[in-house]
Amino acid sequence: VTRRATNITRVEHRITEDMRVARNGHKGAVIWLTGLSGAGKSTLAVALEQALFEKGYQAYVLDGDNIRDGLNANLGFSPEDRAENIRRVGEVASLFASAGMIAITAFISPYRSDRERARKAAPGRFHEVHVKASVEACEARDPKGLYKRARTGEIKEFTGISAPYEAPDAPDLVVDTEAQSIDSCLDTLVAYVANACRS
Ligand code: PPS
Repeated sequence: VTRRATNITRVEHRITEDMRVARNGHKGAVIWLTGLSGAGKSTLAVALEQALFEKGYQAYVLDGDNIRDGLNANLGFSPEDRAENIRRVGEVASLFASAGMIAITAFISPYRSDRERARKAAPGRFHEVHVKASVEACEARDPKGLYKRARTGEIKEFTGISAPYEAPDAPDLVVDTEAQSIDSCLDTLVAYVANACRS
């Protein structure tokens, strides 16, 4: 992104990462869920948030549909707008992690380069999770009726139908919602986060 602001001097915090870890009892992190529409990202994200909350973790979900309702209301689904969507979310998630929280993001984030940029925004704290399900499975589920509308051409540039999804090459974790139940995927995620955020 082209930086437009000049004459910028960063402010140093007095509260260190160690101080936040000591208070929260865990490290901050970005748990980045990526996958097709209907793969189960939002379902898993809110279930993970609840499970972590109940265990005393500070966790918060950033979800595509919600963020596109506010912060990113000016963005559509062209490759450029998706890149900007993910760039902003990557920055916001990084701020959450710096604040000591576990940011759980649920965005299709179909482009590898955009996800890699999000990883670079939160160095050492970014965990890419592939919420895996085939286009066929997602289309059969079609919880919002979007695949049907994409097939008729009513919705253009729909991921998996008329726009690409670049699956992660080396994700930190894969949860396969076609092969495993949501409860089983959730258990895998909770165990992963507990280990990744251990103080
Ligand atoms: S992206 O690609 O990461 O910028 O997309 P994201 O912000 O996650 O938004 C995906 C949700 O937007 C709805 N929707 C579409 N998805 C994909 N392609 C097109 N053209 C589209 N139009 C609307 C859809 O509800 C997605 O939500 P999920 O939860 O993934 O089904």
